[in-house]
Amino acid sequence: MKYDKDYREAQEHPETFWKAQAANIHWFRRPETILSKDDQGIDRWFADGELNTAFLALDYHVLNGRGEQAALIYDSPVTGVTRTYSYYELTEEVARFAGALKSKGVSKGDRVVIYMPMIPEAAIAMLACARLGAVHSVVFGGFAPHELAVRIDDAAPKVLVTASCGIEVDRIIPYKPIVNDALAMAESPPEACIVFQRDQCPCELTPGTDFDWKSLTSAAEPADCVAVKATDPLYVLYTSGTTGKPKGVVRDNGGHAVAMRYSMASVYDIHPGDVFWAASDVGWGGGHSYIVYAPLITGCTTVFYEGKPVRTPDAGAFWRVCSEHRVKALFAAPTAFRAVRKEDPECRMAAAYDLSSLKTIFMAGERLDPPTYDWVVEHLERPVVDHWWQTETGWAIAGNHVGYGIAPTKPGSVTRATPGFVVEILDDDGAPVEPGEQGNIALRLPMPPGSLPTIWGNHSRFVDGYLSKFAGYYVSGDGGFIDTEGYLFVQGRTDDIINVAGHRLSTGEMEEVVASHPAVAECAVIGRRCELKGEEPLGLVLLKDGVSVDENSLESELIQEVRARIGAVASFKHAVVVQRLPKTRSGKILRKVLRSIANGEEYQTPSTIDDPACLVEIEATLLKKGLRN
Ligand code: COA
Ligand code: AMP
Repeated sequence: MKYDKDYREAQEHPETFWKAQAANIHWFRRPETILSKDDQGIDRWFADGELNTAFLALDYHVLNGRGEQAALIYDSPVTGVTRTYSYYELTEEVARFAGALKSKGVSKGDRVVIYMPMIPEAAIAMLACARLGAVHSVVFGGFAPHELAVRIDDAAPKVLVTASCGIEVDRIIPYKPIVNDALAMAESPPEACIVFQRDQCPCELTPGTDFDWKSLTSAAEPADCVAVKATDPLYVLYTSGTTGKPKGVVRDNGGHAVAMRYSMASVYDIHPGDVFWAASDVGWGGGHSYIVYAPLITGCTTVFYEGKPVRTPDAGAFWRVCSEHRVKALFAAPTAFRAVRKEDPECRMAAAYDLSSLKTIFMAGERLDPPTYDWVVEHLERPVVDHWWQTETGWAIAGNHVGYGIAPTKPGSVTRATPGFVVEILDDDGAPVEPGEQGNIALRLPMPPGSLPTIWGNHSRFVDGYLSKFAGYYVSGDGGFIDTEGYLFVQGRTDDIINVAGHRLSTGEMEEVVASHPAVAECAVIGRRCELKGEEPLGLVLLKDGVSVDENSLESELIQEVRARIGAVASFKHAVVVQRLPKTRSGKILRKVLRSIANGEEYQTPSTIDDPACLVEIEATLLKKGLRN
C-alpha cells in the first residue's frame, strides 16, 4: 500500500521523503540542506532554499498556462455578490496591493496586521504581504478591540489593513470603531491603517493615518515578488493558550509551501484545476491553509464564502455553493453540519441541487461526534473524512487520507497518522502506553515541514509549552488513545482550552475577565457540552465576602464584559453564583470535576479536595438553573 510505504519512508528517511516533496514546488534556489537545526536547536526544513510563497500561489500559475483559470470565487450571500478572479486577475490585484503596502513603507520582515471580514481583499492583503516577504498576522473579525490590541502590541505591525464593516447574516458590524478602540488601547500602534470601504457601511478616515484601499492601490506601482529564505516567517497567527495572552504561531515559507502542496494531494486528493471549498474564515488556521495557501499553491480554484451554513438564506446554502461552483471537496467544522441538521433534519434541501461534482466531505476543528458523522453519511451518501490538526501544525496530523485511498473508518476515530507525523500516546511521566490506553497525544520530533518553529517573540514559551514536557516530543495538548490497529482517537484537550463552534478559546482568558468584576472574588470557567456548538463556556462565580448582588444582573454584566473584552465569538452566555468552589488543599480549583458535574458524567471525588460537600451543592445549583447536562 502506498500509504504504508510513504509513512515508513517519512518516518525512517525524512530527508529523502521531504526532498522529493520539495521538488513539487518552484524554488528560486533549490534547497540542498533538507533538515537542520537552527541556533536555538529547533529542527528546520530546507534552510538554504529560497522562494516566494505568493509567486507559487499566483505568478507561477500565470506563467504556466493557468492565467485564465478561476483562482478564487467570492460567493457572498450576505451581499448578493458572486465574483470570480482568474489567476491573472488575482496576481494583478495582489501585485498592486503589494505596491500600496510598499508605498506605506512595508518591506521584507515587517509585520502587517489584517483585521477583515471574508472578502477577497483579505486574501489579497495576505498574498501581498507574502509577495513583499512581509509577515502577515490575520486577526479573526469576531474578536473585540482588546484582543486586537493585544495582537497589535505583540506583532508590532508597520501597517494595519481593515475594512469598513463585516456582515453577520443581516447585521452590519462596523469595523472602524473596533479598530479605533484597539489602536487607542495598543501601546505601539502602527503608523498607517489601510481601509477597504464597503458600500454597506463606509466609514470616516482620519487624515494622515488612515488610507483608502482603492485610492492607494490605484496610485501604486505593482510590486514584484521578493525572494525569501525557506525559514523566513510567512505569517504569525495568534491562537488561544491557557492564559490571557494568545500565542503567535509562526509559520515559515518553505516548509509551509511544501506541506501545503503535499497535503492537497495526499489528504484531500485535490489536484491542479479542481475546485476546493474550505467553509471557514481566513482568521483561523484552517482558513490560512485551505482557503488561501494550499489551493492556490496547488493551482486549484478556491471558494471564498461570506456567509453561514444556515440563515444565509437557509440550510441549503452549502449545497447551493457546492453545486453552483462544482466543488469537488468541502471542508467544514462538524458544528456547521449540526447547524444544518437542526434546521433541515431530513436534509431535504440537498435534493434541490446537483451535487455530482462533490466527491468528499472533510471535517476538522473539533471532535466529529458519531451522530453528526452518521447523519452526513446517510444523507449525502459520500465519504466523510474526519481529520485532526491544530493551528500549530497548519495541516492534518492524522486523518483518512483520500489521496492514498480511503481506509475503513471507525466511529470516533480520526483514522491514522499522516506521513511525516509520528504520533504516540504517553503517560504523564512520558512513557509510552499500551494500545487502547489513554494518555497525552505527543508527536515525535522532528515534526514535518509546515509545523511551527517558534512562538513569535517568545521562544521560551514554545519550548516550555510544547517541547519540555517530554524530551524528544511535541506535546499536542490533546488526550486520546491509539487502538491495536493504529487508529487514533482524539478525545479532547487536556488543558484549559475549549472548542466552541469550531473556535478555539481559552477559559483562562475568560476567567481573567470574569474575575476582574468588582463583585467577584474567584471564578472558574469550564467547557460544558453543547449539542450545537460542541462545547460552550460556563462560568461559576464566587462573590466577595459581604457583597450582595442581583444574580441576574451580575450574569448580564459578566456576559457583556466577556463580549466586550474577548468578542461575541466567545459565546459566553452563563455565569452562575456558587457558594464555594472545589479546591485542592493547596488551593487549586478542580476544574475537571466541575466539568464532569456540568456534563452529568460520573466523577470521583478527588482525594486532594478540601471540601467535598461543595460538589453536591454545585450540582444542585446547576440542576436548578437547567445547566447540568
Ligand atoms: N465577525 C463578527 N462577529 C462574529 C464573527 C465575525 N467574523 N463570527 C462570529 N461572530 C459572532 C456571531 O455573530 C455570534 O454573535 P451573537 O452572539 O451576537 O449571535 C457570535 O459571534 C458567536 O458566533 P458562532 O459561535 O460562530 O455562532 P453563529 O451562530 O454565528 O454560527 C456556525 C454558527 C456553526 C455557523 C459557525 O460557528 C461556524 O461556521 N463555525 C465553524 C467554524 C470553523 O470553520 N472553524 C474552523 C474549522 S477548521
Ligand atoms: P485549532 O488550533 O483552532 O485548529 O484547534 C485545534 C484543536 O481543535 C485541537 O487541539 C483539538 O482539540 C481540536 N480538534 C481539531 N480537529 C479535531 C478533530 N478532527 N477531532 C477532535 N478534535 C479536533
